[in-house]
Amino acid sequence: MEKIGLFYGPKGGSVERVAKMIKERLGERVDLIPVEEATVEDINRYKNIIMGLSTVGADAWTADHTSDVWSKILSALDKIDYHGKTFALFGLGNHVMYPQHFVDAMGVLGRELLRHGARIVGQRPVTDYEFEDSLAVIDDHFIGLPLDEDTEPEKTPERLEKWLQDVLKEFDR
Ligand SMILES: Cc1cc2nc3c(=O)[nH]c(=O)nc-3n(C[C@H](O)[C@H](O)[C@H](O)COP(=O)(O)O)c2cc1C
Repeated sequence: MEKIGLFYGPKGGSVERVAKMIKERLGERVDLIPVEEATVEDINRYKNIIMGLSTVGADAWTADHTSDVWSKILSALDKIDYHGKTFALFGLGNHVMYPQHFVDAMGVLGRELLRHGARIVGQRPVTDYEFEDSLAVIDDHFIGLPLDEDTEPEKTPERLEKWLQDVLKEFDR
């Protein structure tokens, strides 16, 4: 199987913790790359790509907000060669504190990738989650895997395992 590039950010919190869980589960198949250290060339080296991020307020989610670790990659998505690549996204959020913006950032990134013609796998049905609204929902599915380490961390291992199994099947194709 082709190697997987797992680009994640920010460092030091829930996103990094989940990225390390994936690394522990998949071992040598995965390269862990903090997105703040990544260039588009790094992304272009992989056919199978996982991107993990958190939502920390809509203000941070504009391409010109330089303090966000994803801004450099977000503003360079047009330089990715999408041919033959498969993407899977996971997004950290808090469905109790932010039910109307649950994992919005995953939606912002996912929609931008789709606009550039990316193939994204690993969608999750909205019925598995309690929330009011989210930019990450398209046709009754989250565009990737929502995780809430703030209020339901006990659900993370099972959610992650099921999602990884689905994603790995698609990566193998
Ligand atoms: C200032 C702030 C704003 C947040 N806004 C949202 C939000 O709009 N939607 C959401 O689902 N979670 C929101 N969260 C929750 C975070 O996404 C959640 O705590 C996540 O686990 C943080 O992961 P990180 O520490 O790796 O960045 C917010 C958290 C903070 C501190």
